[in-house]
Amino acid sequence: MPPTHSAPAAVEPAVRPCGALIAWAWSLAQRHLSRELPRRWQHVQGVAECGRRIGERLLTGDEEELLVAAALLHDIGYAPGLVVSGYHPLDGARFLVAVSAPPRLVNLVARHSAAEFVAEQRGLTTDLARFPDEHSTLRDALWFCDMRTTQDGRPTTFAERIASIRARHGPQSHLVRALDAGGQLARHDAVRRTELRLGAAVLRRVSPHRGEAPAPPRGDGDLGAARKPDRRAR
Ligand SMILES: [Fe+2]
Repeated sequence: MPPTHSAPAAVEPAVRPCGALIAWAWSLAQRHLSRELPRRWQHVQGVAECGRRIGERLLTGDEEELLVAAALLHDIGYAPGLVVSGYHPLDGARFLVAVSAPPRLVNLVARHSAAEFVAEQRGLTTDLARFPDEHSTLRDALWFCDMRTTQDGRPTTFAERIASIRARHGPQSHLVRALDAGGQLARHDAVRRTELRLGAAVLRRVSPHRGEAPAPPRGDGDLGAARKPDRRAR
């Protein structure tokens, strides 16, 4: 049964704050989204739950926490009180700079889910360029979770998520034009890379030597022995 799009009921938090950064991100997102944009609040909780789930398989320590924090805050720029440019990754990033968020967190929010393609459609490329895209496993994981979570915070497929965006926004919107200009492919590639990394992580867990590059020769001794002529045979 497809997700309903009626007004969301109160939900049990999917991700409970634990580390200091997550706790801070949680309270900030809750304050700005939960009352005025309850459905958006559900969505970011779903994205954060996805981040918690895959972060422990793909990342370590501080990066796991950063992924969940970025997931909680990635759409904070939609909060009515924070709108300046009207483009939520940019408004969210600017707000996070103002509250002294860690720079990596700011940049992840600014660049999430192929934001540069929409920025180009809206004439905001120069504004967004201030925030570099780190092109990392963590960044791909954030995009993956955003693209695999419905508006209501439930898991979905990439194809359904894209279809939902296209249906809601229409072909003339900046967002759909950005998808057609390369944004969809960029999102797809980040999702695919994350799927491959998750698959490799499963293989490593089942068989620790699978899913890794072949081990190099063990020192010069092995190669040297193979290459040296056997003097005794002369
Ligand atoms: Fe989102």
